[in-house]
Amino acid sequence: MTQGRAPGKVILLGEHSVVYGHPALAASIPRYVTVDLAPAAEVRIELPGGIQTPFPLLEAAAAMARDAGFAGGFHAVLRSDIPLGSGLGSSAALGVALARALKAGCAPAEAASLAMRVEQVLHGAPSGVDPAACAHEGVIFYTRGNPPAVERVRGSAFLVVALSGIARGTHSTVLPLAERRKSDPRMDPLLARLGELAREGRDLFERGDLVRLGASFDAAHAALRELGVSCAELEQTVSALRAGGALGAKLTGAGGGGAAIALARGEQHARELAAQTGGFAIKVGG
Ligand code: PMV
Repeated sequence: MTQGRAPGKVILLGEHSVVYGHPALAASIPRYVTVDLAPAAEVRIELPGGIQTPFPLLEAAAAMARDAGFAGGFHAVLRSDIPLGSGLGSSAALGVALARALKAGCAPAEAASLAMRVEQVLHGAPSGVDPAACAHEGVIFYTRGNPPAVERVRGSAFLVVALSGIARGTHSTVLPLAERRKSDPRMDPLLARLGELAREGRDLFERGDLVRLGASFDAAHAALRELGVSCAELEQTVSALRAGGALGAKLTGAGGGGAAIALARGEQHARELAAQTGGFAIKVGG
């Protein structure tokens, strides 16, 4: 029996624009997927809560095992405390944890690359930022490529993660945005602006300039809303976080539901804001 474990993630700045080659700032979160794996005749995956394992996921896992040099089939049992369909990296963490269970001691870049097999099945054409954030842990500055560029970012911050109550797949906003981009000239400048905010946000995060970083969260949310990837429930969640005194708040991940994040002034403020909004407080980075 082997075990692999990986954390979920939040995108601090740069979701969607990262798909089009702009950089993103992302962080692992202290919520985990754990995989217990034993060799078996066939590939079998037990998902939490008795969810039926989709056949393409089994195929992707088998392909990942071949890439990892794991001979034969396996039986994998998953446990997770990452909310599903919320943009918090549950599928990327699944991929990274499975890669680690299949290949003990594999380096973060290799685990992220192996996990892309699962991401491609569940998300279509992912940028790769999710598995990179889950595999590298801490805070990263990510640009897609072959290989992708992953830089570690120093510093730390306290956030509140609040769920909008709507679960959805990444496809549901990424594919419609790709379509809108073909005919709507406003999309590309908005995507460039989001990339710029991620670049600035990296420096602000490293300097611990929380006030300006909070303003970047607000500006990114406004751009994401204009891109058409927010929804009424997310707007309410973001407003509640701001009303509670967040330095800034935005949707995180693909949008269309899922989660929002707020930047808190410190640990105590994060706890208070979480209690007020029904979210949970986390520390990201160092
Ligand atoms: O799967 P989510 O909700 O974490 O979204 C991933 C971030 C996107 O930029 C929207 C897609 C991608 O592949 O980068």
